[in-house]
Amino acid sequence: MCGIFGIITSEERLLGPTLIEAGRMLSYRGYDSVGCATISQEGEIDLRKDAGKVETVAEKYNFAEMTGKRGILQLRWATFGAPSQVNSQPHLDSDGDLVGAHNGNVVNNVELRKEFISEGMTVRSENDGESCIHAVERYVDRGFNMVEAIRKAAGDLEGDFSFVIGKDDEDVLYAIKKGSGLVAGYAEEATVVSSDLPSLLPLTRRIVRVEDGEIVIMTPDKIELRSVADGGVIEREIEEITETMEAVKKGNFAHFMLKEIHEQPKVAEELLHLLDNSEDVDQIVARMKTADHVYLVGCGTSYHACLLGSVYFGRLAGKATIPAVATQFMAQYGPTLGPNDVGIFVSQSGETKDVLNAIELAEQKGIGVLGLVNVVGSTLMRVSTHHIPLGCGYEISVPATKTFTNQVLSFLYLALRMGGHDTNILYELPELMKQTIEATDGQAAELAKALVDVPDLYQLGYGLTYPVALEGSLKLKEITYQHCEGILSTEFKHGPLSAVEEGYPVVFVAGQEDVDLIVSGINEATCRGGRAIVVGTEDARLRANGDDFLTIPKVDSPEIEALLIVIPLQLLSYHLALGRGYDPDFPRNLSKTLTVD
Ligand code: M6R
Repeated sequence: MCGIFGIITSEERLLGPTLIEAGRMLSYRGYDSVGCATISQEGEIDLRKDAGKVETVAEKYNFAEMTGKRGILQLRWATFGAPSQVNSQPHLDSDGDLVGAHNGNVVNNVELRKEFISEGMTVRSENDGESCIHAVERYVDRGFNMVEAIRKAAGDLEGDFSFVIGKDDEDVLYAIKKGSGLVAGYAEEATVVSSDLPSLLPLTRRIVRVEDGEIVIMTPDKIELRSVADGGVIEREIEEITETMEAVKKGNFAHFMLKEIHEQPKVAEELLHLLDNSEDVDQIVARMKTADHVYLVGCGTSYHACLLGSVYFGRLAGKATIPAVATQFMAQYGPTLGPNDVGIFVSQSGETKDVLNAIELAEQKGIGVLGLVNVVGSTLMRVSTHHIPLGCGYEISVPATKTFTNQVLSFLYLALRMGGHDTNILYELPELMKQTIEATDGQAAELAKALVDVPDLYQLGYGLTYPVALEGSLKLKEITYQHCEGILSTEFKHGPLSAVEEGYPVVFVAGQEDVDLIVSGINEATCRGGRAIVVGTEDARLRANGDDFLTIPKVDSPEIEALLIVIPLQLLSYHLALGRGYDPDFPRNLSKTLTVD
């Protein structure tokens, strides 16, 4: 999703390299265009932008030579207007004395553009980021100062966004947050602002978190926050960040995805210690026990964790829970929600708009809001009455891996606790995860060679492994661009089986309790020419019936086994993406944090 970065320095300096680096750091969010603007001491604006990757556009337009006292960088993920130079950001106002860029979605963009044109403004693009600039221009032209103009503009702009903007004749940079992420910080002889924290870490550890409805007024040595509602000054403590930069570097790994897959044992162990010492766990369990209905709500991978969590609560705690994709939660359950219901909202980023919309509805209905969230300080973390921090550190790669396993582990822990079981059995998990990675990485790489050119695959699971098959299939299509459908294995014969022909790959995500069922499924596929790939614990019958076998270490608990089986599926997707020549960390068209509807 779009990312913005801004800097104001005490003296004119070379800003290009800092802006390019910020672009690199923000690029994990997903983007299709890049742009930079600098404003010199004398107020001259230098604007360079185009569709393309940071490295390519930066080289083509020589961003590295850009100097100034203020700088803005934007990565754009197209929503309003196709990826093109004119739709790239930053944008100028009509006369070229304001320059700025946004992150988010201005939903009344089309209507606003018509208004701006009829008011005589020069509108150059179809992009909603440009509307943010004209919305401010409108009030500057009527004589308002910048803070007042931004406050008024915020009233005209509908949707969720943040933007950064500068005026040629002022030594100030402004930003506003309304729904999209924004964090500011004190750097060396400069202040900085960005859509997210990692991009600020190379420059500062002293940060100021910006909340919705706040304007940031940045001078080289001061960050002031003002309320959009009444213009009043807001006091906020400076936060010292202790996380190391290692978290946002690849280290010895070729890709963040591989690094994050390998981090799973470590973050799982850390999470277990955290859960053992968390007071929120008891509160969450107590709240769930007495609730009329418990909803587990998320999107994409986080939804798959909800699905598996729901199976855990049924099996281990005898508690029925309702897993729901966030948007469907609103559509399907909105009318029936009551004050004694509770929702556990699950999100790596804590900023997914679909999830935040569902929370808004939950709050209107008075239902309890609990959270499973990775990003510290995110909206989900702030609005949850109780939350479990996933403790994964930064997950840079767009495909979620370690955050999925820690989401699932959190649910497994809660279900064991709710059912009065000993959670200590989970301490065998980190070592099993390590062994699984070691055992299956090579096997997955080999299998990927055989599957590299197939256009379509199925992944089948049942019971505990059904959510894992959905997750494995999402991972595969997300980074390999192959079509892969995750299906409940018993539903296969009700339709999808018809597509199977000679060589068609069908992956069986095999739970140890379901061997009979899987053997039948394998034969249904193989007798029609299908290629049966089994992923699971070593088993003579599965081996005899299947064509390929990715084996994980043996574990007595079927619940833990389900968690382990996702690892070879992550690795298979990773190796397939490489084999097909794609960068698994930054798949086309996708974004790490989806802050739009
Ligand atoms: O940040 P979230 O967990 O709320 O994100 C939800 C989905 O967008 C996300 O899980 C997406 O499906 C992943 N990129 C899949 O790997």
